[in-house]
Amino acid sequence: MVTQQVVAPPARAGMFLVLTVDDGSEDVVRDLLGDLSDLVKAVSFRNTRDDLNLVVGIGADVWGRLFGELPRPRQLHPFEALEGPRHVAPATPGDLLLHLRARSMDQCFELARQVATRLEGHAVVVDETHGFKYFDERDLLGFVDGTASPRGADGDAVVLIGDEDPAYAGGSYVVVQKYLHDLAAWDAISVEEQERVIGRTKLDDIELPDSVKPSNSHVVVNTIVDEEGVEHDIVRDNLPFGEIGAGEYGTYFIGYAADVGIIELMLRRMFIGEPPGNTDRILDFSTAVTGSLFFVPSLAFLDDPPDPVDATPAPTAPVSPAPSAGSGDLGIGSLRRSPG
Ligand code: HEM
Repeated sequence: MVTQQVVAPPARAGMFLVLTVDDGSEDVVRDLLGDLSDLVKAVSFRNTRDDLNLVVGIGADVWGRLFGELPRPRQLHPFEALEGPRHVAPATPGDLLLHLRARSMDQCFELARQVATRLEGHAVVVDETHGFKYFDERDLLGFVDGTASPRGADGDAVVLIGDEDPAYAGGSYVVVQKYLHDLAAWDAISVEEQERVIGRTKLDDIELPDSVKPSNSHVVVNTIVDEEGVEHDIVRDNLPFGEIGAGEYGTYFIGYAADVGIIELMLRRMFIGEPPGNTDRILDFSTAVTGSLFFVPSLAFLDDPPDPVDATPAPTAPVSPAPSAGSGDLGIGSLRRSPG
């Protein structure tokens, strides 16, 4: 079981590409999936210190088109849009996700270009976001983002599917959402108030004491503790993006988990509220404009994608007399003993 490298140190540069696959281009896409490791090798070898990393996700709508009746990963389904009392999380199209990370943008860009060349005329890039490291891992709201996200072996334990779905062990799930910030409204409130929105101090990134951390702060809303007192984490690797001339300032949210239900629970708590109405205050300054969910196959699956499985039942053979000894027929369908 060789896994795609989901858990990685914070990147200095990142690209998020969401694509839809054209009808009739499934063979091209399957071939490309199988070649991605070689493409990563070719691009990254030109500067091995840049730690180029690609994670690929496959959406629910294209699964059957690519793999026929091959059973789906148990939790693969389309992203569910949410409509809360104040905020909306839209669901937007996406058959493939490419999450590219490196120490420099040239590596991400070159790999994306090589992939795009292979997909020309076969897929459409429906969203492309170039993210960058902003000072000490800050988002454009000015807060350090990613602190509580598990790293190393803890991160692997959170993201990797295990015995709960043995056919897809070593895979994962990923949810992406692109958020745009209202920085004018954000800058109009005091730093103390901003800290109550997030639940951590701005300069030092220290979690506020429970006594002052509001129940609608981003940290409290996204802290999931079950009845047994066990906390459920996800692995995040958000990056800021923006375009000065367009006045666009955003955060690209990307969350990985072996149990995608944890991410979905976080989203319900943010947009609907728990109890209903207690929505995440970060949303008063952030609008979700995309939303998609993908299965992240293991590297073994990706390197050798299965051919589509045919659901059409094989024509029933006419009932034949029981095989007589020495006929060569094993009596199990079309299998025959090899001569000699
Ligand atoms: C924590 C920013 C969206 C889940 C944080 C923190 C910041 C932040 C600054 C505190 C530091 C840290 O631990 O990383 C943002 C921004 C978002 C965003 C700017 C987009 C507008 C989301 C979404 C989810 C999420 C959509 C889940 C679906 C979490 C979790 C934590 C966290 C689980 C850690 C909570 C804990 O302390 O245990 N986020 N986030 N975030 N965020 Fe977000």
